[in-house]
Amino acid sequence: MKIVFATNNAHKLDEVRQVVGDKFALVSLRECGIVEDIPENEPTLEGNALAKARYIYERTGADCFADDTGLEVDALGGEPGVRSARYATDGHDDEANKRLLLERLQGVENRAAQFRTAVALIMGGKEYLFEGIVRGRIATEQHGEGGFGYDPLFVPEGYDRTFAQMSAEEKNAISHRGRAVRKLAEFLQNL
Ligand code: IMP
Repeated sequence: MKIVFATNNAHKLDEVRQVVGDKFALVSLRECGIVEDIPENEPTLEGNALAKARYIYERTGADCFADDTGLEVDALGGEPGVRSARYATDGHDDEANKRLLLERLQGVENRAAQFRTAVALIMGGKEYLFEGIVRGRIATEQHGEGGFGYDPLFVPEGYDRTFAQMSAEEKNAISHRGRAVRKLAEFLQNL
């Protein structure tokens, strides 16, 4: 079964392919001819995920899903949240985003945070939402070379290593996106 995943991020595509397995052939945006950036202007992760899925569906008519992820830091009232990609600048400047996060948390004792992913699926024209959360804390400095985004700063609960110090399999087993996508995969398998 073919399903479009609304991303051109190779890291994400790999992560999600590993979780979904062979039963579904994931097609990236580029592979279905969408090269432009899809607007993400909604105030919530769910809103953005749905907006992206609807954008694809309206143009291709294909079954598709989209995700939106935010890093929600307790001491910052859930920031950067839906603005995680554009925290420091209008672009996707990971280094600047991590620097700003460390700055905002300087001297802050409560470093609890969570990654939250919303996945919106459009299948047969119907819309469905799935959510995945992983709790953890923000380290005081970066550790590790793997992963992407805020991974070198995020230590999941029950671990003393950041996501960037884990293999893709280890991260997937506990991550926000892994959890949300496993819910999606279960749903698809039970169709
Ligand atoms: P997006 O909505 O999934 O594109 O992600 C929004 C922001 O969160 C971007 O700055 C990403 O780098 C960051 N992000 C998303 N997923 C992860 C992750 O698994 N680890 C670290 N950062 C992530």
